[in-house]
Amino acid sequence: MKVFFDNAATTRLDPEVLDAMMPFLTEQFGNPSSIHAHGRAVRSAIERARKTVAGLLNAAPAEIFFTSGGTEADNTAIRSSIETLGLTHAITSPVEHHAVLHTLEHLHKQEKVALSMVRLDEKGSVDLAHLQELLSSNPRSLVSLMQGNNEIGNLLDLQVVGELCAEYDAILHSDTVQTMGHYTHDLQEMKAHFIVGAAHKFHGPKGVGFLYVRPGTKIEPFMFGGAQERNMRGGTENVYGIVGLAKALEIAYRDMDNHRRHIEELKKYMIAQLRANIEGVSFNGSSADLENSLYTVLNVSLPSSELNDMLLFNLDISGISASGGSACSSGSNVGSHVLGALNVSPGRGNVRFSFGKYNTKAEVDYAVSTLVGLYEKEGVLK
Ligand SMILES: Cc1ncc(COP(=O)(O)O)c(C=O)c1O
Repeated sequence: MKVFFDNAATTRLDPEVLDAMMPFLTEQFGNPSSIHAHGRAVRSAIERARKTVAGLLNAAPAEIFFTSGGTEADNTAIRSSIETLGLTHAITSPVEHHAVLHTLEHLHKQEKVALSMVRLDEKGSVDLAHLQELLSSNPRSLVSLMQGNNEIGNLLDLQVVGELCAEYDAILHSDTVQTMGHYTHDLQEMKAHFIVGAAHKFHGPKGVGFLYVRPGTKIEPFMFGGAQERNMRGGTENVYGIVGLAKALEIAYRDMDNHRRHIEELKKYMIAQLRANIEGVSFNGSSADLENSLYTVLNVSLPSSELNDMLLFNLDISGISASGGSACSSGSNVGSHVLGALNVSPGRGNVRFSFGKYNTKAEVDYAVSTLVGLYEKEGVLK
């Protein structure tokens, strides 16, 4: 059995999305900047896609800028807001994705911005009282806090954070890569200045994403070149990617309730099965708290054992693709900076299972029985 439980790293392309993309990989090959018929047809597909994305997020098309993915959108929001808006202080947290952390650390090293880390509670959630403290001593900061953590699933109440930021005239960027397409975003209600999306996290293609910029938040171009993306990002557009992103988001919104119900059931079932079959199992962060975590992520903490160094490898051999942390660190020996910030005890086996619409209950059964088999063999379970 081959099981893909790494949907927080990426997701399978939806065949409906592929169908929407195909014409732009074949007969509709014009350059969208060309003014002849071949170009115009493709230009209008991009603008239709922008309108679709904006409509779903209750924003205006002019507020959506297509990028090469979540990383570029995060980099742009952070760099441009610091450079263009003259912000001198930023607040973030130690459990952000590296697209945010490394960008801010780099700007800090170059002395372009002072940096404060907000405190987290023992589950890895933002201490809002500390955030307020930081804001009150540093008004007009850039606040960059993710909505849903890709490793431990913790959700942040962006409404509350947005109101705090408004009170202290701060600029709010939220990495919404893990929530986009899985939860609704209404930008008339939200107070964020920047949010982002990456198509491959919601069954769209890889290498395409977007940045939302609140009107009135003036930023410099993020790529100099041609006049694409209204002079903000030069370079011939990833047309089929953009068309695929819009289709994937449309499907995600259309089917959201059903998919959420299905995936939540799988997560609940896996928690119950693990608790029933593996003595001493626990869950990292808030990931077992169904109200306060992404329904797509379950970060499991398994009993101490010699086996744990080879846990992901053993799962892989059994056909189960899961992750030990974010995809970026799973290929190297570097441990997860998120679990590091939580002080999880080093001997335990940590596996992030992340679910998607194509997963089944039988796959959960297989993963749990594989884990049970491994720990029984090791003598950890009787
Ligand atoms: C929370 C978060 N932010 C940013 C990214 C980066 O997105 P992309 O791979 O599209 O650059 C990811 C994906 O790994 C993510 O999970």
